[in-house]
Amino acid sequence: MEKKIYIETYGCQMNVNDTEVIFSILAKKGYARTEEMSEADVILANTCSVRDNAEQRIHGRIEVFAQQKKARPGVIVGIVGCMAERLKDKLLESGKVDIVAGPDAYRSLPRLLDAVSPGNPQIDVLLSHEETYADIAPVRIDKGGVSAFISIMRGCNNVCSYCVVPYTRGAERSRDPHSIVREACDVFSRGYREVTLLGQNVDSYRWTSPEGEVVDFAQLLARVADIDPKLRVRFATSHPKDISDTVLETMASRPNICRHIHLPVQSGSNRLLEKMRRRYTREWYLERVAKIRSLMPDCGLTTDVIAGFCSETEEDHALTLSLFREVGFDSAFMFAYSERPGTLAARHYPDDVPQDVKVRRLNEIIALQNEMSLQRYRAQVGRTLEVLVEGPSKRDPGRLCGRASNNMMCVFPAGAYRAGDYATVKVTACTSATLICELA
Ligand code: SAH
Ligand code: SF4
Ligand code: F3S
Repeated sequence: MEKKIYIETYGCQMNVNDTEVIFSILAKKGYARTEEMSEADVILANTCSVRDNAEQRIHGRIEVFAQQKKARPGVIVGIVGCMAERLKDKLLESGKVDIVAGPDAYRSLPRLLDAVSPGNPQIDVLLSHEETYADIAPVRIDKGGVSAFISIMRGCNNVCSYCVVPYTRGAERSRDPHSIVREACDVFSRGYREVTLLGQNVDSYRWTSPEGEVVDFAQLLARVADIDPKLRVRFATSHPKDISDTVLETMASRPNICRHIHLPVQSGSNRLLEKMRRRYTREWYLERVAKIRSLMPDCGLTTDVIAGFCSETEEDHALTLSLFREVGFDSAFMFAYSERPGTLAARHYPDDVPQDVKVRRLNEIIALQNEMSLQRYRAQVGRTLEVLVEGPSKRDPGRLCGRASNNMMCVFPAGAYRAGDYATVKVTACTSATLICELA
């Protein structure tokens, strides 16, 4: 009988796409996907290490998986992804985990599954300089069939001092652009209308063919956008030090490249940016924002920020708040600093901002951002937008939802529209996270 595999996915969009790669690799070995843990022969968690609470959550899940093993002997439990890479055989100590596989080891999963037996766990956490899974067609796990993730590179060559990703995902490598364009064409022909090109720092995408031909991110973006005007192209994540005028001009020249840039700032204080090794200044960041807005006045901007990084003073924090006020992001992912073992910051700087101060500063940033979001969303009221229909709205299944080019979520009456259609809507009202629209 066919074996069933169940995967829980944590962390970033790259992990979601990796889960799709794992399903594809294991489907070839006869494993069928299930969404019910209770009927799975193999239970995997694709994990994240970026903050300590992400890892704590997985330790909790391992206990839940252990109950499944108890109830149904023979069930295999595997931890894969970033936490597998970071903790390696330490994950085997509890005896509750049978398989540990890092982000570059997914091709080994069939072998590990064949070899595993009670008391004989299997591990592969080798990182690679070449692996991009370029030839593997991911099994899409999204429900709508409208929007697909495509990883264009893996790893990261930056050493932001707080960040564990370079250790869990290894060195940066870019994927062959032909395989990226092929994948985008393939999903488009299957009815998808949006692709999101993924990498930790897409601006440093750079592929050199054996003949010496170089393709950079701007060229890749153009190639994907030129597949069809009805295919929307998004990308994440951009790095403020690397996002080039050529990329911005490529966006501006092609309406199907969505008007949205996720540009993590991390801090508004130059002293902290230096300490974080971000390699740009507040002034540089603001200049990039000004350039984006001069080329694309309607471009959506979102960001990531860390409150309470090592040695952060009230002054540094005030600079972050003033930057948020000055830029006016549409939305932001906001975090309290979490020290990660092995990173530059953990080795060199004491984690000296008390927890209650971190939380207070984080809450101040969140409160300010909520205000700014509401302003940014209100500014859309009265405008007419083109929306790619994703499906029924979660809150109100009688209505549809979809994103505008600037990435704002819109909710509107269904009319004759279906998932994958482009709808023209007029914004009539909003919250700080949704535009309420009528059909135009
Ligand atoms: N490659 C992307 C983001 C990777 S991680 C970039 O360069 O921006 C996603 C976000 O998690 C980061 O932007 C940062 O804001 C946050 N983050 C990373 N390490 C963290 C840590 N140790 N503590 C708190 N937040 C962290
Ligand atoms: Fe981490 Fe910096 Fe790389 Fe982003 S660019 S993944 S924050 S090291
Ligand atoms: Fe987490 Fe790994 Fe992504 S640490 S944020 S899952 S790259």
